[in-house]
Amino acid sequence: MRVVTSVVAMQRLARRWRAAGVRVGFVPTMGYLHAGHLSLVQAARRRVGRDGVVVVSIFVNPTQFAPHEDLAKYPRDLPRDRRLCREAGVDVLFVPTAEEMYPRPVGAEFSSYVVEEALGRGMEGVTRPTHFRGVTTVVAKLFNLVLPDVAVFGAKDFQQAAIVRRMARDLNFPLEIVVAPTVREPDGLALSSRNKYLSADERRQATVLWRAIQEAQAVVNHAPKPVTAARLKAALKTFVEREPAARLDYVEFFDADTLAPAERVTHGTHLALAVFVGKTRLIDNARLN
Ligand code: PAF
Repeated sequence: MRVVTSVVAMQRLARRWRAAGVRVGFVPTMGYLHAGHLSLVQAARRRVGRDGVVVVSIFVNPTQFAPHEDLAKYPRDLPRDRRLCREAGVDVLFVPTAEEMYPRPVGAEFSSYVVEEALGRGMEGVTRPTHFRGVTTVVAKLFNLVLPDVAVFGAKDFQQAAIVRRMARDLNFPLEIVVAPTVREPDGLALSSRNKYLSADERRQATVLWRAIQEAQAVVNHAPKPVTAARLKAALKTFVEREPAARLDYVEFFDADTLAPAERVTHGTHLALAVFVGKTRLIDNARLN
């Protein structure tokens, strides 16, 4: 496995692959890898085959963190990530520095951003208004550096995946976006690098996100007709906040393609929620079947 840290070297390598007709699968990450990320690597490998190359990037992207968010304390463990990538059969690990990605020559500061203007307004966009601008900007930059044929994102960040897909389509990035299923702990907690912040007691309470999804599923299963979203949201807030450390940030029901809020909840409606467990903000989502 080759480790690339320079933007110029990554771009040069990618152009060589493209000229040689080598298919490139790409998994962008912020590191502190877990089995969820490794499942994205496997999905990328399946798409490009043994003759293709799989690139993983690790970059804790400052532009997607608000000043009060956890950029400085975001978990990092590059030696471990490097080992996991090597074991997973990654061909190139791209680990640029912030200075490489956002150079600041005096008088020519970074000032160009990519903004998706519709899908990013609700849900995460309400609590984190500058977050998706940072995500789309860095993902567009990474696409320009890695030149992937396929890029794989996790379904846990459902809104992010929808926004990236829209951006790639709107801006004609010549690649396929694949969204791979959420990987869960045996008790249902979705894998996330942020789970590391949870104390043992918070970790137990954190299963409330998955339990809330199942509760919504049970309500839909037993209701003779579509359920009013507002009523179900109120019930889920009470359900979540029965856990003493949990505070619901939002729960939303929506159409999976357009992310348009649903007023009535039924089979096929998508649900997403964000919950503070102590100081840690966790998200999850699922389609109600
Ligand atoms: O999902 C993430 O880890 C990040 O938002 C991403 C896509 C790597 C962009 O920084």
